[in-house]
Amino acid sequence: MLAQRPPMGWNSWNTFGGAINEQVVRDTADAIVEKGLKDAGYEYVVIDDCWSLRERNEEGRIVPNPEKFPSGMKALADYVHSKGLKFGMYSCAGTRTCAGFPGSFDYEFIDAKTFAEWGVDFLKYDFCFKPRLANGPILYNRMSMALKASGREILFSACNWGSDEVEKWIRSTGAHMYRSTGDINDSFQSFKNIAMSQVDKIAYSGPGCYNDIDMLICGMHGSGNVANGGCTDIEYRTHFALWCLFQSPLMIGGDLSKMDDFNLDLLKNKELISINQDPEARPPMMVNGGDRPVFFKHLANNEYVVAFFNFTDRSDTWGGDTVEFYDLGLTVASGYGFRFRDIFTGEDTGVLTGRLSTKVDAHDCKIFRGTLVEK
Ligand code: GLA
Repeated sequence: MLAQRPPMGWNSWNTFGGAINEQVVRDTADAIVEKGLKDAGYEYVVIDDCWSLRERNEEGRIVPNPEKFPSGMKALADYVHSKGLKFGMYSCAGTRTCAGFPGSFDYEFIDAKTFAEWGVDFLKYDFCFKPRLANGPILYNRMSMALKASGREILFSACNWGSDEVEKWIRSTGAHMYRSTGDINDSFQSFKNIAMSQVDKIAYSGPGCYNDIDMLICGMHGSGNVANGGCTDIEYRTHFALWCLFQSPLMIGGDLSKMDDFNLDLLKNKELISINQDPEARPPMMVNGGDRPVFFKHLANNEYVVAFFNFTDRSDTWGGDTVEFYDLGLTVASGYGFRFRDIFTGEDTGVLTGRLSTKVDAHDCKIFRGTLVEK
């Protein structure tokens, strides 16, 4: 069974856009292994839009652009597989992809067969140029069945940007993950708005079909295809923490040949990744809202997370940031307190009975993980 945990990998779009080619894919596969990302759990290497010629061939097949992919897709898939990784590609439910290349509308079964022959393990499936009267459930269901009929196990990654209340029907189509928002860009505002737009929809996400809040921008620093000023390292950490807390698929979007050490370490942060991969996939409860949100999340094995975020531009909050345990349901009479660890500093809070207080700087976050203990 696929996607029993949020899928992890790399996608070409955020950095390379239309400039994708086989050398980039090979170098990225090498880097995923050499830089320890494979060991951290990253698995899928995904080519997004702009990989094909503008028209199908006489047999109705999509043809890889020979200038970008001179060795062909089968050879590239073999290379990615030889690294112990999985190979992903992209198509669209409409007549054209978002960048105007051939889409799979009406060619679903032919394309799924072609992808299977090439050795594709993952298909991202977009929603541009879709006939107005054809609806999402039909189109995603059709490609899902085509992939299942292809003879190869292929993870199906839907991308309709959250339209038509996608969270309510997408699991029924057999998709394994689904984009729930518009496209991310490399800015604090973008990732903050995307994450917060999904707070009350994460409950639909879980094993077998995860809410995908878009590819990561960690370490892009204002370069690449979705550039919009870039973020500070602290902001990239807040971004990654939100994606982990919400258990979104983790698809790296940066250029791995240029990834700095801070962001490489962040992408491999074991504590955050283990929250992201938690098998129970319980949605976080929002204990405090607004621009200083606080979340409480149950993990497997009786562990808990308290996550504080400061989306304001101010670091100097009067009184600091506090979560009262009675707001989580824990009363003094229970005889229990929480013992937490700050996952970034390793600091132990000791047993706390009434509240957890901390101080979160502007655009930063604090993530605590712990258990209930007898007082
Ligand atoms: C849409 C998707 C993006 C990317 C582009 C490619 O905008 O949401 O993630 O795949 O298309 O054109």
